[in-house]
Amino acid sequence: MPSTARSTPNIAFIKYWGNRSEDLRLPMAPSLSMTLDRPTVEITVEEADAFAVRSFLADGSEKTLKEKDIERFRKVLALMQRYLDTLGAANALSENLLITVRSHIPPAVGLASSAAVFSCLAKAIAGFIREKKELTDKQVSILARLGSGSAARSIFGGFSTLEEGGGMEIGGSWSEQIADEHHWLLHDIVVIPAMDEKKVGSTEGHALASTSPFYAERVKSIRSRRQRECIEAIRKKDFEALQRVTEEDCLDMHHVMETSTPPLHYLNAETHRIVDAIKALRTKAHLPVLFTMDAGPTVHLVCPEEGRSAVLSFAHAQKGCTIFETKVGPGACLVE
Ligand code: DP6
Repeated sequence: MPSTARSTPNIAFIKYWGNRSEDLRLPMAPSLSMTLDRPTVEITVEEADAFAVRSFLADGSEKTLKEKDIERFRKVLALMQRYLDTLGAANALSENLLITVRSHIPPAVGLASSAAVFSCLAKAIAGFIREKKELTDKQVSILARLGSGSAARSIFGGFSTLEEGGGMEIGGSWSEQIADEHHWLLHDIVVIPAMDEKKVGSTEGHALASTSPFYAERVKSIRSRRQRECIEAIRKKDFEALQRVTEEDCLDMHHVMETSTPPLHYLNAETHRIVDAIKALRTKAHLPVLFTMDAGPTVHLVCPEEGRSAVLSFAHAQKGCTIFETKVGPGACLVE
């Protein structure tokens, strides 16, 4: 029976950067994010005569996938089967699957499309094999992690972690929910300075993390303090505390990226200009808003309901930028 799932990206407050196993995407440190309610991706998994991946854009037109993208799916499905073997579900996935992706995500603009795609694939796979084996959300998050580390966190709605876990086993890191989407209404107003495809993808980037002299200190700070501070800020809905730890962690990750060999410069002059302007505005207007950037120049402005309208006006006043509005969302689900 074909199985269809829907999922969305997430925005990290504590960033996932660097692995203890690149192939298995076992992270060096824990991370934490808010799952967004849009844009959505839908994926259908079904039996076919041969393995194939088809991808459709928001306007319904088919996107020709690069050979390396198709290879990533093939590799991820093989890893997923390897994990299913450990759960006693040998041969659950045939080699001849047709994967159909329908994405509403603007390509590579700093909205983590891989998080939405691979959480969606994991959920669709869980639906596809459910008569052979029922998976828990934790197990589905492990399937998602094998496709993209950050994808594990989009299995859950609201606020969730990617746990560091332990060991080198395939199931050695998973996602946990801290609070669901009804806990705290936070908006993410996304300001996209340029629609360029990013130069170095995060998969290649993770492998460079440990070449930065600042990476060991980063991992230590997250493990000893930042992850816990972020969890507490969310539990208590303490926006000021969330702002402090999120901005500290974001700037620290970019510092690591920029001091790795070779250096990775994801932020551009526009990013810095927007960040300076929002800092000035929040001081002047006592506005609750925080900024954070992933592996690209896009600025995410996260705010509670009372900041929304001022932050939106600010965003729309940024010349040459595309604005995308999203908020905390419910996570991956099966579409009946
Ligand atoms: C900067 O999950 O995209 O967005 O596992 O190689 O797909 P892969 O990496 P990915 O890395 C996310 C990097 C980040 C931070 C984050 O979302 O935590």
